[in-house]
Amino acid sequence: MAVLASGNGSNLQAIIDRVKSGTLAVNVALVISDQPRARALERARAARIETRLISPVDFSGPEDWNEAISSALTDARIDFVVLAGFMRIIGTAVLDAFPGRILNIHPSILPKYPGLDTYARVLAAGDKEHGTSVHFVTEQLDGGPLIAQAVIPVSKADDEQSLRTRIQATEHWLYPLVLGWIASGRVVMRESATWLDGKRLAEPLRFTEDGPDTPATAVRPAAT
Ligand code: GAR
Repeated sequence: MAVLASGNGSNLQAIIDRVKSGTLAVNVALVISDQPRARALERARAARIETRLISPVDFSGPEDWNEAISSALTDARIDFVVLAGFMRIIGTAVLDAFPGRILNIHPSILPKYPGLDTYARVLAAGDKEHGTSVHFVTEQLDGGPLIAQAVIPVSKADDEQSLRTRIQATEHWLYPLVLGWIASGRVVMRESATWLDGKRLAEPLRFTEDGPDTPATAVRPAAT
């Protein structure tokens, strides 16, 4: 698979660490970034993963840039694309080349708060909970079929940084967990929906911040 990342790359690192420890059976063959100084690129190089910098500033428009991403992915014989803090919108050239085979993680309990600044928006609204969502990517921004969510309580003492720290801690087990299901064929996107073990998911699997063994809903996947 390929990971696309724009920034720090802590989710990429979590995936790399799981692969190294033998608890996630995927091959991260390529890391693409749109940002020359992305720490994600350093993390990939340190793990001896091939990297590509594909910056929109080097292209005449979003279509050309998308074509370049798509070509890089197909040249590297990538099966599955993982967006991990990739802060650009993927266009039709990539979507059409990888139908149902692009995953994203977004820091909100989707469909609440698509887009940016989710932490500030949750605090401004006085929400009692916040979370992160793993979903398939479609042409609808942060709107593709949901797979799993981790939900954390928000207290009066929380600020953006405390929420970000706790949400990202959940992402670091949630994303590898879902990738394991994808790699083993347990989770697929079909008919614009998420299917787990041959059953259509009516709603995403919900976990608490305590970890993958503590789903917040009764829906519990069989052990991997
Ligand atoms: C993650 O928290 C991810 O949910 C978020 O960016 C962060 C990247 O962190 N993604 C989005 O906001 C996408 N809309 P990382 O670079 O340390 O993995």
